[in-house]
Amino acid sequence: MTATDGAKPEETETNTPDFDITKPTIARVYDALLGGKDNFAADREGAATYMKYVPDAGRCAIDNRAGLVKGVQYMARNGIDQFLDIGSGLPTVKNTHEAAQEINPEAKVVYVDVDPIVLAHGRALLATNNSTTVVQADLREPETILANEDVRSMLDFNRPIGLMVVGLHMHFHDDENPDEWVRTLMDAMPAGSHLLITDFVDTGEPLQKAMEQAGLQSLGNGWIRTPERITEHFLGLPLLPPGLDFISRWFPEEPDREVPAAEALEPYQRILMAGIAVK
Ligand SMILES: C[S@@+](CC[C@H](N)C(=O)[O-])C[C@H]1O[C@@H](n2cnc3c(N)ncnc32)[C@H](O)[C@@H]1O
Repeated sequence: MTATDGAKPEETETNTPDFDITKPTIARVYDALLGGKDNFAADREGAATYMKYVPDAGRCAIDNRAGLVKGVQYMARNGIDQFLDIGSGLPTVKNTHEAAQEINPEAKVVYVDVDPIVLAHGRALLATNNSTTVVQADLREPETILANEDVRSMLDFNRPIGLMVVGLHMHFHDDENPDEWVRTLMDAMPAGSHLLITDFVDTGEPLQKAMEQAGLQSLGNGWIRTPERITEHFLGLPLLPPGLDFISRWFPEEPDREVPAAEALEPYQRILMAGIAVK
């Protein structure tokens, strides 16, 4: 049995030839934090490490997903009808194609993830959806993503695209210069394209630092960054109102909505920020 048949995977090394289940992966730990079932003992240990440092880590993951949905809904209602979702993760409660196609049934979505488990589960989920596909590829090789046949046949690079890099930058150290990979993708897209990003923030709070420690201990990555540094992820493109903000009070469709002061949020709600920029 592989982990692709939708049943709870048996947890032995011999019957899961596609995946190394002895080491946690980002996609599977995140799935465990979200309460999903597509994870193994090592991943659940990774999630437990997160929760040891940040007891509300699961709520952070849920907030991040909510940010993804808010961003997709904004883009879909504002004319974006094709999405490239990099580091898409395992299917969960509401996925990009569901959020987008609820608003525009014609919307096209390409999911890209480096983890083979995402490809396996994504293919099963999308077997009957001709407007959505999933590709196994690596953000660190953006040219490969741009040259991928499935990407090229689903998306029209002559029309605006919604590029999503949600919950991914934190897994790369600044030394790797993740902004340059995203720049390569954005350079291939026309004016009017949108860039949706969420990332771990560092405004000097102990719980933010604890999130970084949890990531480093469980996955070997998961760095926090200042808001100024996160803003640089948007490559100098103008941010749409309300700008970069804590996800739980970030409402791109209602930028004038009255939101709580940052101090009124729970500390766990001050770990992740989101923003959308437009080319
Ligand atoms: C924390 S999850 C975020 C999932 C989803 N975007 C969300 O925000 O809910 C990060 C995802 O990025 C994927 N990932 C990690 N490194 C990657 C890379 N180099 N290229 C593409 N995807 C990657 C992981 O496999 C995982 O599924």
